[in-house]
Amino acid sequence: MAPVFTNSNGCPIPEPFATQRVGKHGPLLLQDFNLIDSLAHFDRERIPERVVHAKGSGAFGEFEVTDDITDIVGSAFLDTVGKKTKIFTRFSTVGGELGSADAARDPRGFSTKFYTEEGNLDLVYNNTPVFFIRDPSKFPHFIHTQKRNPQTHLKDANMFWDYLTTNQESIHQVMTLFSDRGTPASYREMHGYSGHTYKWSNKKGEWHYVQVHFVSDQGVKTLTNEEAGALSGSNPDHAQEDLFKNIAAGNFPSWTCYVQTMTLEQAKAAPFSVFDLTKVWPHKDYPLRRFGKFTLNKNPENYFAEVEQAAFSPAHTVPFMEPSADPVLQSRLFSYADTHRHRLGTNYTQIPVNCPVTGAVFNPHMRDGAFQVNGNLGAHPNYLATDKPVEFKQFSLQEDQEVWEGAACPFHWKYTDDDFIQATALYKVLGKYPNQQKNLAHNVAVHAAAADHAIQDRVIEYFNKVSHELGSNIKKELLQLSPRK
Ligand code: NDP
Ligand code: HEM
Repeated sequence: MAPVFTNSNGCPIPEPFATQRVGKHGPLLLQDFNLIDSLAHFDRERIPERVVHAKGSGAFGEFEVTDDITDIVGSAFLDTVGKKTKIFTRFSTVGGELGSADAARDPRGFSTKFYTEEGNLDLVYNNTPVFFIRDPSKFPHFIHTQKRNPQTHLKDANMFWDYLTTNQESIHQVMTLFSDRGTPASYREMHGYSGHTYKWSNKKGEWHYVQVHFVSDQGVKTLTNEEAGALSGSNPDHAQEDLFKNIAAGNFPSWTCYVQTMTLEQAKAAPFSVFDLTKVWPHKDYPLRRFGKFTLNKNPENYFAEVEQAAFSPAHTVPFMEPSADPVLQSRLFSYADTHRHRLGTNYTQIPVNCPVTGAVFNPHMRDGAFQVNGNLGAHPNYLATDKPVEFKQFSLQEDQEVWEGAACPFHWKYTDDDFIQATALYKVLGKYPNQQKNLAHNVAVHAAAADHAIQDRVIEYFNKVSHELGSNIKKELLQLSPRK
């Protein structure tokens, strides 16, 4: 049956395009609720876009446990091989606005919400295994340099490279970003990485540090700088189109899930800190162990309701999975829910895409607020009342925890030449693939050519510390693209 067209209060409207006026051509009347309500609602259609990761695409799907992992983690959704959990994934670019091009050179966000029986687990990952910063207070500074100049309102190569070349811990991520993996061919054809170290524990209370990898079953496919530039003009929404059309056609993308683990003793002995987000755990020392697979098999019915209003947070976790002490991760635990309250309102978890599937959320002291829509726990007292029985579910806690001690003091990581070790390892990895080292030098040069010569010199020096060959190839191309008098 076709729906009856109504006002927002449900009153049927016989003529949607008529306006109430004095006579046929006279002024409009304030009593015309249909018109006023429509315009007023239209005026408020936009919510703040995400301050980062504004442009994105999403889909629903299913996660399945493929291998027993219960010796590592006690979470219920991972307790049986073959067990399935509904998921929602959102992919994104980072720096651009809602209308920006999908082919931008940028890391890609890769967030997945697992609707588990113990609450929602959000894995808020990127398609790169490392990040630009390891001191969280740098985040707003760093992000501003990737966005627009406050005066010209243009992207600004001077700001971009000024920041990066003076914050050398960024080099590993910048190498990835300017390799062809900085311009993935589609969201389907890229991996996802936790980047951060997390902590998983089993039901006996034994715990490990972990890094999680989602490996694309479609393989990795990338664009060259020139292909990405052309695509940004011809089809700025190419990744949205690719994801939507493939799922609509039944060509469901999937990823295989792996975990790397470290004991506390191994972490103490490792040649890098597991809390340093600019470092990977080498595969040969910390092998990947398979535990699951997920498939995206359902497009959203409505983009705004399900993709734009999706709220992911690294703080949304489930029993037996915890954050590590990585300071960037610790800061993210605060930042995401804070931005959701601003972007979507205090009751953002009541929006269907964000709602746990566990039945009613029961926290009777968290009441009221804008857009309270789930009954507000009715007449139940708005505090934990002694005469109302409540179950407090226990799950085994780790007995042998990390022990922290020391004076409360400001800390930031010091620069050392170690910052370049893994960047150099990546340069060697690129050497195994045709054109990848050459493309990296080219991709940097065409971007840095828009910066002042003094900053270009710093760019050459920055990459020289990774490899003299790389520095000198960038220099050669920069001299051609941006000749010196
Ligand atoms: P391995 O040789 O065991 O692994 C190299 C990794 O590099 C593979 O995961 C491969 O991914 C990935 N890779 C291949 N080409 C590129 C590229 N163009 N851009 C980015 N990554 C690429 O070496 P290690 O584990 O010792 O790591 C060496 C370097 O590889 C690291 O310093 C890091 O930069 C990079 N790397 C390491 C990862 C890790 O978790 N250890 C993950 C990703 C990158 P694929 O299998 O998809 O081809
Ligand atoms: C989105 C903050 C680092 C991955 C966001 C948003 C904020 C934010 C405010 C917007 C969220 C929203 O509006 O819903 C921060 C801060 C960081 C940080 C303060 C460091 C201090 C990282 C890192 C990763 C990451 C290291 C990956 C490992 C993402 C992803 C999204 C996102 C994937 C998009 C989520 C979505 O799809 O809705 N971040 N971020 N961020 N961030 Fe971060």
